[in-house]
Amino acid sequence: MSGFPRKIIIDTDPGQDDAMAILLALGSPEEIDLLGITAVAGNVPIARTSENARKICEVAGRPDVKVFAGCDRPLAHTLVTAEHVHGKTGLDGIELPVPTMPLQAQHGVDFIIETLRSEPSGTVTLCPMGPLTNIATAFEKAPDIVARVQEVVLMGGAYFEVGNITPAAEFNIYVDPEAAEIVFKSGVKLTVMPLDVTHKVLVTAPRLQVFKDFGNHLGDVVAGWLDFFERFDIEKYGSEGGPLHDPTVIAWLIRPELFSGRLINVEIETKSDLTRGMTVADWWGVTDRPANAMFMNEADAEGFFALLTERVRRLA
Ligand code: BDR
Ligand code: CA
Repeated sequence: MSGFPRKIIIDTDPGQDDAMAILLALGSPEEIDLLGITAVAGNVPIARTSENARKICEVAGRPDVKVFAGCDRPLAHTLVTAEHVHGKTGLDGIELPVPTMPLQAQHGVDFIIETLRSEPSGTVTLCPMGPLTNIATAFEKAPDIVARVQEVVLMGGAYFEVGNITPAAEFNIYVDPEAAEIVFKSGVKLTVMPLDVTHKVLVTAPRLQVFKDFGNHLGDVVAGWLDFFERFDIEKYGSEGGPLHDPTVIAWLIRPELFSGRLINVEIETKSDLTRGMTVADWWGVTDRPANAMFMNEADAEGFFALLTERVRRLA
């Protein structure tokens, strides 16, 4: 297919599901050229997310990937974390060695800005999988880069599925709604993978077994992560498996036909204590507000897991 490989920056707060997204990207070199990973505070504080990102690269046999630490707190509020979902380390489920690959000296936000300025305009896609603090900070600090972004493809928000951290809000948007508002209002081309999509790609027992059956270290690591990660959602939703949120971003870049949605207006609630971080999605077009996001709501779960397991298996 033309346009491949796509140059991307993964902006992330790993997180077991973030880890699977990184593995999917690294296992797909024909389609994905990973320029770097910028860590952000989210599921756990920045010291942990920047360490976890390096652990994941090492597990994948890719200590050469550039990992940067970005913002350590949201733009306007105290950091809310999600150890109740991801465990104390953010990557609980299996013990991994302290990474030996270096953390880059440059700040993650500066890496985003420098990359967008140095690569040809319209050739770099940003893939945020955590709170949007790094991306919004980069857009505020260097407004010239917004027009140079090929596209932002992010995991965040919800419409029909409503909230997972409050009744109204999804975690990534809730943690830094002011940052989300900047990104959603920036005019950048935006594709959103909300809970409406990610709650359709569940790690059922047979899907988990495929990783266990790898019979090697990577398979054991992935199975450890996913076993741990899904216990929370299974308990909460009574579902047959945990939702695998963040890899949907990368899967969409590789095989967009696995997903469908609508180009609609999405605004971020920043004022209300009750609904802070809500993605107010005009799904039915009841306002005249201009469309600013391709908001997905359907996924081919079998196709998604076939892609994921095929690509992760390559790394083993
Ligand atoms: C999002 O929140 C995080 O806990 C996950 O990694 C995912 O990015 C889902 O709401
Ligand atoms: Ca995440």
